[in-house]
Amino acid sequence: MDAAAWSPTSWREYPAAQQPEWPDDGELQRVLKHMEDLPPLVFAGEARDLTAELGEVAEGRAFLLQAGDCAEAFDTFTADSVRDRLRVILQMAVVLTYSSGLPTVKIGRIAGQFAKPRSAPTERVGELDLASFRGHMVNDVGGTAEARLADPQRLLRAYHQSSATLNLLRSFTKGGFADLTRVHSWNQAFVRSSREGRRYEQVADEIDRALRFMKACGVDTRSQPMLHETNFFTSHEALILGYEEALTRRDALTGDWYDSSAHLVWIGERTRQAAGAHMEFFAGIRNPVGCKLGPTATPDEVVTICQRLNPDRVPGRLTLIARMGAERVATALPPLLGAVADAGHPVVWACDPMHGNTFTSAGGRKTRRFDDILREIAGFFAAHEAVGTWPGGVHVELTSDDVTECLGGAEEILDADLASRYETMCDPRLNGRQSLDLAFRVAELLRR
Ligand code: PEP
Ligand code: CO
Repeated sequence: MDAAAWSPTSWREYPAAQQPEWPDDGELQRVLKHMEDLPPLVFAGEARDLTAELGEVAEGRAFLLQAGDCAEAFDTFTADSVRDRLRVILQMAVVLTYSSGLPTVKIGRIAGQFAKPRSAPTERVGELDLASFRGHMVNDVGGTAEARLADPQRLLRAYHQSSATLNLLRSFTKGGFADLTRVHSWNQAFVRSSREGRRYEQVADEIDRALRFMKACGVDTRSQPMLHETNFFTSHEALILGYEEALTRRDALTGDWYDSSAHLVWIGERTRQAAGAHMEFFAGIRNPVGCKLGPTATPDEVVTICQRLNPDRVPGRLTLIARMGAERVATALPPLLGAVADAGHPVVWACDPMHGNTFTSAGGRKTRRFDDILREIAGFFAAHEAVGTWPGGVHVELTSDDVTECLGGAEEILDADLASRYETMCDPRLNGRQSLDLAFRVAELLRR
């Protein structure tokens, strides 16, 4: 990027992968024009707070938990669904913080995660070849050609649902729900009786005791806001560049550009081309940003990405999200860690143990094995230990619901069980128990 030449529209001069074909360009332009006048969803100061928190992760003093849906949905949007997703992330964060003694930076894949990159432009649905489903921001998952038409009105609906979701998240995290005196109440009934649930109850008991101890020592725990509220940030893959451009605003305080659609946005594995439109757009916004890295990423490519997205080497500005697959993490990751360290770039390294481990089961469902997910995380920690870098965090797809989408875990979900509660519109997610189990396993790795 030529810094002087960058503008929220300069990405348009570059090839943009994975953009929908909108049937009516006039309508698209009207919608985007309207969106430019809508209020920002997040504020520049909040994005800067997240950069500062991630800076602590980059320097090895905190851990990142980024989690949520593969794709958020328009049709299952309720206050309870937002609360439940928040709740499981808070539970995981409590386990991680309590066990490791380190602050956990919490970022949801939420309030904007509506657009999906696809490996092919069409997909087979029953007897039909249909345009691929690209997320509710673009089209519908239904099995007809009409459902699959890209509809610009969906961009607006995504904006409004994000706004309502953020409103709930802000009330929940600042208005009492996230209060540390309520850690017990986050354990859902169906999880409580399980082994993971009982383990969580123990942690919750110990936190209660610690709070009572502080009080008994004369600490006025009621007046400590950090015990009663928490910072929770939003993120999504910034795929549809027209939407992101329309929500990009100049911060009055600093004069810098921020994408107000989320606190953190990331570039997906399929859109991280050095000369592509996504890289150009991301280079000019000041939000903390992420970039996925699959097993084909080379050390040179990764150092170029660091240079491009974080030329000023600000700790916390750039999170590299490795999604290598359990088989390849041990060979593919260390050269990247070494190259970034040698180049002196401060980054957050996060492990996405989901997207390199997806396969279609014999029964025909897209799934992932819980064991592969744990194996990739263990490989990620081992690679960092070998190179001498900090395993900064994990990035997972989950729901608090009792779904059957990933194989294994304590309930030993089998291929034959997948059909019973397979509810995702896109990738298979960890359920509530698997998520909590994963948090305990990561906590064990962190303690070592
Ligand atoms: C995702 O995070 O849902 C995703 C599509 O990931 P990736 O770009 O790593 O394939
Ligand atoms: Co996914």
